Amino acid sequence: MKRIILAVMNDVLIYGAYGYTGKLIVEEAVAKGWKPTVAGRNAELVKTLANQYDLPYEVFVHSDQNGWDKALANKKLLLNCAGPFSLTIKEILPACIRNKTHYTDITGEIEVFEYIQSYDKQAKDMGITLLPGTGFDVVPTDCLAKYLSEKMPNATHLELAFESNSGLSRGTAMSVLNRFHQGSAIRTNGVITEQQTASVNKILRFQGKERNVVGIAWGDVFTAFVTTGIPNIQVFTGMPVKMMNAMRRASKWSWLIKSAIMQRIGRYLIREKIVGPSQEKRESLKTYLYGRVWDKKGNEVVAEMATPESYKLTAIMSVICAEKVLNGESEPGFQTPAGAFGPELITQVDGVAITWHE
Ligand SMILES: NC(=O)c1ccc[n+]([C@@H]2O[C@H](COP(=O)([O-])OP(=O)(O)OC[C@H]3O[C@@H](n4cnc5c(N)ncnc54)[C@H](OP(=O)(O)O)[C@@H]3O)[C@@H](O)[C@H]2O)c1
Repeated sequence: MKRIILAVMNDVLIYGAYGYTGKLIVEEAVAKGWKPTVAGRNAELVKTLANQYDLPYEVFVHSDQNGWDKALANKKLLLNCAGPFSLTIKEILPACIRNKTHYTDITGEIEVFEYIQSYDKQAKDMGITLLPGTGFDVVPTDCLAKYLSEKMPNATHLELAFESNSGLSRGTAMSVLNRFHQGSAIRTNGVITEQQTASVNKILRFQGKERNVVGIAWGDVFTAFVTTGIPNIQVFTGMPVKMMNAMRRASKWSWLIKSAIMQRIGRYLIREKIVGPSQEKRESLKTYLYGRVWDKKGNEVVAEMATPESYKLTAIMSVICAEKVLNGESEPGFQTPAGAFGPELITQVDGVAITWHE
């Protein structure tokens, strides 16, 4: 039995594999006995990674459709790590549909979830699963949202929050820069609207500490609605007041930040300055989450979750999700993590603890 599963796990292409998170995912997959094909646009970096783990590889740019057709011809699943995904998805997803290849990724970008969902019918027709968001954003929050909605099926509102001290990887910083001008996001009566960056904050108490949290455009504003049907959703992250005020000031310059020149300068600075959390941080830190649902009468249910560090969790979770899709545990079409596998998905990771407020 084990041999059959490993053979299928070899039918995986990991694109964007030499990026910060891609490498962690490759390492996790190899540790589980997979032999995925690694791919990306920089030949030298792809080959170095492939040689390090003795893996097959492919080199092509994300817009090369012949490259995709060749690389996906014998593959059952693509695990996409090439973000910001809003800049790559439109060339990548149609290639998966065309080649009948399951699609997973580690996006947290609302507009990317929206775009992928628009391929739901084509994916169903082809019998493939589209499962974006298999990283820290959105697996633990999606599972927390699902647990809460099961406790209160008539909930009208969902509030999620998290605090992580890991810092950002290069790609996450690029994604933040790329959509900074769009501000935060909230779902009201089923509809997503934008809010000015860092304009909404509150104090929440979780893990025994009062935390200043700020509303952000987290993927769950899109996905938690699909998973739970709750029509009003907001997601917050812990943020020191000083940083929140700096972001509020910066948001007045959104028009400038989104200009091509400032985006180029920003990308240059990110490439030069950001390396991502160290291994020591990944192994020692934890991430804390909070979730609350309430109904029209004001009844509420509150829960908290502690997980391993967010990039470590992303590597573990994206491999587990890919494995489950390949094992036929997901339905065809657009899926969310907890929608596809239930809220218990998160408990497959060692070191996850869930507590309920009385
Ligand atoms: N959901 C989560 O919790 C979670 C966790 C971690 C990361 N992420 C997301 O995952 C993405 C990657 O993060 P990271 O830190 O690994 O970033 P990274 O170190 O910059 O790696 C990004 C990878 O994608 C490739 N790439 C980017 N644009 C490309 C394009 N147009 N064509 C081909 N390859 C392209 C890069 O290749 P080049 O170096 O050649 O550009 C690199 O291999 C980001 O969007 C980040 O926000 C999400």
